[in-house]
Amino acid sequence: MTTIHPAFKEDNVAVITGAASGIGLAAARKFAGFGMSVVLVDLDGDRLAAAHADILTVAKDGEAQIVAIPTDVSKLDELEALERAVIQRFGRVHVLMNNAGIQPGSAIFGAQANWEKVINVNLMGVVNGSRVFGQGMVAHGEASLIINTGSKQGITTPPGDPAYNVSKAGVKAFTEALQHELRNIPNGAVSAHLLIPGFVFTGLTAHGRTEKPAGAWTGEQTVDFMIESIGKGDFYILCPDGEVDRPTDEKRILWAAQDIVHNRPPLSRWHTEYSAAFTTFLKN
Ligand SMILES: NC(=O)c1ccc[n+]([C@@H]2O[C@H](COP(=O)([O-])OP(=O)(O)OC[C@H]3O[C@@H](n4cnc5c(N)ncnc54)[C@H](O)[C@@H]3O)[C@@H](O)[C@H]2O)c1
Repeated sequence: MTTIHPAFKEDNVAVITGAASGIGLAAARKFAGFGMSVVLVDLDGDRLAAAHADILTVAKDGEAQIVAIPTDVSKLDELEALERAVIQRFGRVHVLMNNAGIQPGSAIFGAQANWEKVINVNLMGVVNGSRVFGQGMVAHGEASLIINTGSKQGITTPPGDPAYNVSKAGVKAFTEALQHELRNIPNGAVSAHLLIPGFVFTGLTAHGRTEKPAGAWTGEQTVDFMIESIGKGDFYILCPDGEVDRPTDEKRILWAAQDIVHNRPPLSRWHTEYSAAFTTFLKN
């Protein structure tokens, strides 16, 4: 039986960034289903309004429990205004999900503005979100969670989208440090967790497709796995999908770490010189 972490409790308060779509929207639906108050955070627009209307249909107390607050997570002043608005409305926060993210694509020598945008949304949005909300969450003393959405691309850093990889590697490093800090707080009741989705069919990965590819998970599957993993006390929520199982992920992660240990070139997994060795490593 799944243990549900005590932060996921009726009338507790959740704040979710990137809540208008995909994994964030699925989390909002799930948390509202628990009877929690949910703050939907996303860029201003029709999608946020539609998400608000959607989540209201599953909320036990309707408008009293579900609010949408347009916020650009790449802007510190907007995150600070968000925190003030949430505290004024609900008093405290029990679940903070720093989940907003973009993947416009990038190149090492590509546009400066693109690099800054990806880093500011994906990394600084998570760092600042955790810093702006974290101390208040520690102070109220009730069981609480900060869940930051990373990526396997921040761990194995495949070629093709360096800005995204850098941003997600930063989310991993930050969230590890955050959890270390939180667990050393005497009587602390907040823990941080790194959500590492697999291939999930969302706005980010649809690329014009309207049907979920067989190998992808849904946002709902991802959120169910997240809740189950947190219930078990996992920090690293390493999600499989229909194409990649956990043993394969473990091998890929180990191979990447062993580039350093074995003094191989970086990203050797994608070097033709190492492809046979990697295939053998995967099988053993
Ligand atoms: N879908 C996958 O396969 C996958 C895999 C690994 C990691 N992720 C990560 O999961 C998270 C959620 O992505 P998703 O797949 O649900 O994509 P999505 O595009 O469906 O949802 C992301 C949401 O973030 C919002 N957003 C973007 N910039 C923002 C900003 N500056 N301020 C506030 N909101 C902003 C978008 O408007 C969107 O609603 C992201 O961090 C993404 O990098 C997704």
